[in-house]
Amino acid sequence: MNSSRRVIGSRLVVTLAAAACALAALGGCAREKKDERIVLGFSQIGAESEWRTANTESIKAAAATMNIELRFADAQQKQENQIKALRSFIAQKVDVIAFSPVVETGWDTVLLEAKAAKIPVILTDRSVTADPSLYAGFIGSDFVEEGRKAGRWVTERFKDGTDDVNIVELQGTVGAGPAIDRKKGFEEIIAANPRFRIIRSQSGDFTRSKGKEVMEAFLKAETRKINVLFAHNDDMAIGAIQAIEEAGLKPGRDILIVSIDAVKGAFEAMIAGKLNVTIECNPLLGPQLMTSVAEVVAGRPIPKRIVVEEQVFPMETAKQHIQSRKY
Ligand code: AHR
Repeated sequence: MNSSRRVIGSRLVVTLAAAACALAALGGCAREKKDERIVLGFSQIGAESEWRTANTESIKAAAATMNIELRFADAQQKQENQIKALRSFIAQKVDVIAFSPVVETGWDTVLLEAKAAKIPVILTDRSVTADPSLYAGFIGSDFVEEGRKAGRWVTERFKDGTDDVNIVELQGTVGAGPAIDRKKGFEEIIAANPRFRIIRSQSGDFTRSKGKEVMEAFLKAETRKINVLFAHNDDMAIGAIQAIEEAGLKPGRDILIVSIDAVKGAFEAMIAGKLNVTIECNPLLGPQLMTSVAEVVAGRPIPKRIVVEEQVFPMETAKQHIQSRKY
């Protein structure tokens, strides 16, 4: 396995035993105050989705299990709040900083400040467009591949027809890695066949309320038949389902719906026949993050990229999987 890119399984990933070993290894590390707990400053994006809540719970639980002191800041989906939080962690001289960047750009200055203060930074969930030497590693999903999976499901579903397939798209937060990459992956797949056209595309900011609002606007403005909704996350799809029903249409039948995350709410919608497929995006990154934190504090390098393996769940399989879903 290439040491700069590691793939982790979706069920999770790092055993507690491995995590404990990583911590035990700290006993022999160059850290000055060996008997003190590692302090991790973590800046979370917010609580915009079911996915995000599961991600926060995973990080808090893993920190507690590994006896890492977690200083947690919620940025309420604002980059300026994240930058403030990172600066505050630098002032507090935490051992490690980790964060899920709300958008991809605009981080260079604060990352340079962390580097100058000799505080390693780990990215989780989303990455940044910055010099890779400014962070130790990035743990998260391959969002382009998630978009491709969604595109493949759509093209496969309509492969036998000859009519145009009109698609509306609910994008995630403007400038966010998953919004940019999922769009790119999806478009890459549908580009192979001119029958597939995105006729409307707008941000729903990864939230249910915006997903509903934007879908309402699409339905009002659009005179052509909408065949497919591609939502960049399940929450927006769930909001849109409400809008579709209120417009007197049947979600999952009149308009096919593909979304991303595979949260419990999506499985419920699939069982109710209102969502056709969800592409998994695993939020349970806490154990892997804490192991990486322990590694960098011990002075060991971590892989620059740790990718999470994920599955596709069509509605026909929802009943069989819902009980075992962890988020
Ligand atoms: O960055 C991951 C994305 O952010 C998830 O798909 C979405 O639900 C969340 O808000």
